[in-house]
Amino acid sequence: MSGATALRWRPGCLELLDQRALPAAERWLPHSTAAEVAASIRDMVVRGAPAIGITAAYGLALTRWSGEDRAAADRALRASRPTAVNLAWALDRLIGVPDAALAEVAGQLWAEDRAANEAMGAQAAHLLTGGVLTICNTGALATGGHGTALGVVRSARAAGAAVEVFALETRPYLQGARLTAWECARDGIPCTLLTDGMAGALMASGRVHAVIVGCDRVAANGDTANKIGTYGLAVLAQAHGLPFYVAMPTSTLDRATPTAAQIPIESRPADELRRLGGALICPADTPVWNPGFDLTPAKLVTAWLTEHGVWRLPFPAPAA
Ligand code: MRU
Repeated sequence: MSGATALRWRPGCLELLDQRALPAAERWLPHSTAAEVAASIRDMVVRGAPAIGITAAYGLALTRWSGEDRAAADRALRASRPTAVNLAWALDRLIGVPDAALAEVAGQLWAEDRAANEAMGAQAAHLLTGGVLTICNTGALATGGHGTALGVVRSARAAGAAVEVFALETRPYLQGARLTAWECARDGIPCTLLTDGMAGALMASGRVHAVIVGCDRVAANGDTANKIGTYGLAVLAQAHGLPFYVAMPTSTLDRATPTAAQIPIESRPADELRRLGGALICPADTPVWNPGFDLTPAKLVTAWLTEHGVWRLPFPAPAA
């Protein structure tokens, strides 16, 4: 398992590794209120669907010490980022839990996520060989540990497969360049960086055998919301005859949402796109379209990799 971790907890204080500062600095930010935690989720101090679910659970737990209204804190945390269903998954699990037990249950969710990722890796490792293309960051930083798509890579390598990662830089927030390349470097996973626009040429070169991505919400019919750029990768993968895998802990499956049409897509600030490393890269008032996620129709997905096995449609019924 990777040594990287996105959060640290002690009673009354949640520390988040500031992912905005990576890889230049490893800076931990303390949080003592749910409001601070909601702001940090929104501002992407912590990001990645499972990691923000676990973070939100600890955010709610902080109300025991901060004295904030628990219902208001729950609302603010749920609204902090709209696309990832793991926020609701985690906070729903805390409904009815006594204040004094919230932190303990948050810790259970954290352990559950880590275990699910390791189980997913064990179930899906056999699918990967050679070069695999991925987008965004789906590793330990985005989860409770090990990672989803990057976790399957980790598991495949641990099982002896010579898997190497091709990481898209993932404009505009650069999760691929800043976070995936950082995680791979620290864990000894071979990783080659490319810009998002190079994906088609890479596939045509024959250097990758599969595409593997994470997800923020999967609808009941398999339509998949994930980092902007994922849809284009799925289309390209189909055009090149490559398998397209979605690593999906079942905490990210939203059976209550029938299709992609009902998934809310987060709109990110214009300056995230207009600026690179703080410097303007276009006229300051250039109109910008900056959705954080896109929707990949289920028909473009080869399989969804879960902690219970490799799933194809229709998804199995939930365990009783
Ligand atoms: O905007 P981000 O960085 O939170 O987006 C993250 C992703 O799109 C991931 O693929 C997804 O959350 C799964 S992380 C295991």
